[in-house]
Amino acid sequence: MTEQAIRNVTLEQIDADTTIHPYTELGTHAEKGPMIIESGKGIYITDNKGNSYIDAMASLFCVNIGYGRSEVADAIARQAHKLAYHHNFASNSNEQEIKLADRLVNKLLPKNINKIMFASSGSEANDANLKFIWMYNYLRGKPNKTKIISRDMGYHGVTVAATSMCGIPLMHTGFNLPLPGFLHTEKPHYYWNGQPGESERDYAKRCAKMLEDLILQEGPDTVAAFVAEPVMGAAACVTPPEGYFEEMQKVMKKYDVLFIADEVITGFGRLGEWFAADFYGFEPDLMTISKGITSAYQPLSAACVSEEIWEVLRDGIPSDDIPMFMTGATASGHPVACAAANANLDIFENEDLVGNAKRVGKYFKDQIHERFEAHPLMGDIRGEGLMLAIELVADKETKEVLNLEWDCSHRLFDLCLEEKLITRGFFGQNATSFSPPLCITKEEVDEVLDRFGRALDKLTNELISDGRWKPKN
Ligand SMILES: Cc1ncc(COP(=O)(O)O)c(C=O)c1O
Repeated sequence: MTEQAIRNVTLEQIDADTTIHPYTELGTHAEKGPMIIESGKGIYITDNKGNSYIDAMASLFCVNIGYGRSEVADAIARQAHKLAYHHNFASNSNEQEIKLADRLVNKLLPKNINKIMFASSGSEANDANLKFIWMYNYLRGKPNKTKIISRDMGYHGVTVAATSMCGIPLMHTGFNLPLPGFLHTEKPHYYWNGQPGESERDYAKRCAKMLEDLILQEGPDTVAAFVAEPVMGAAACVTPPEGYFEEMQKVMKKYDVLFIADEVITGFGRLGEWFAADFYGFEPDLMTISKGITSAYQPLSAACVSEEIWEVLRDGIPSDDIPMFMTGATASGHPVACAAANANLDIFENEDLVGNAKRVGKYFKDQIHERFEAHPLMGDIRGEGLMLAIELVADKETKEVLNLEWDCSHRLFDLCLEEKLITRGFFGQNATSFSPPLCITKEEVDEVLDRFGRALDKLTNELISDGRWKPKN
């Protein structure tokens, strides 16, 4: 008999009694307990009560190859049998790490990205990139060039520095954050922030001007870097206006401000290209990657830097006050995680998942337009590849906001869940997003949208029947 059976308690009860879950209403969880997921195959997951769901979010934008791929499981097992772990400090390395670094640097990443340091989470890799930048400026004799600019509603993770980079006020409240020296500029959301008569191009120029004004206000000698998610995941798939990165990079170059592309979500095919840098045609100085690198079969991330940054680090370390690069996590370059990544990328290449994301992503977005554009609640339909979102409004002509106190985003999430469809709810906006595994087929997209349509109908009927909202004539 297991310990659990002897105590005659359910897994749900043990979880509620013992575990603090991230991004969870703690009091509610302690009363209601968890949803326990037991297995997954393709785009489907199954809970411990036998309910099967379509996971239209690839968990947290990460199970890109889909669930249940034994090739990756086998690669993990083989590597664990051979060498489960050895550190990579002080010039130690392992075959899987080397093969992965070669594949990324010499084949997949943008050409100007030439060096890579592995970590386990996106947050950690963002922290590592900050350390690269601060050290780079220190070694160049610019120790005061340290400030980091990110964007309102940007998401970069949960370490103290990564949380400071986030532009989500709810993540700062109560934590005494952001740290000093972390600044925020406008979220480039043309639908909401573009002015009447302003083109996307002109709005992009205005965003670049806001960045320039902030740099000048702080003093260019104090601003080190600008960090951005190319498509903003936690802001419900906000895509940049046309020409945005081109205009922003002009300003960064003018003031010697580095550009970190946080491609934790957009990397590894999500937009229908390997990276958002390929999709939008920008050249970052640093990149943060994670999630799709292993499709989350193992925790793995990486901080990636340009040749220019690398040369300064290489030439400056060791020196009198810096004997070695004094940072690095125990699990950096973990052989099992790197083996998972290599097997995962084999599947990407053998099955053209990036091409599938492009083709099926286009079909998905076209279908959202075809089926829901005319719906009286439908405001914005946005996103690229398989990173898509919709946002509801009370009046599509005037863009009147649907009362946020009704929290229609989470209500729609719950109604989708009743349809056995996992989407994502958001605070502060009436949005729903879809980021399924990249292996999804057109037939599966049809099924996702059938289920979503039924949930949207239920929400619409609720709003009408209790008199909160009625369609405009
Ligand atoms: C763009 C982006 N950056 C960083 C992170 C943080 O990654 P992690 O949760 O692995 O620390 C996330 C997580 O969702 C993310 O979406």
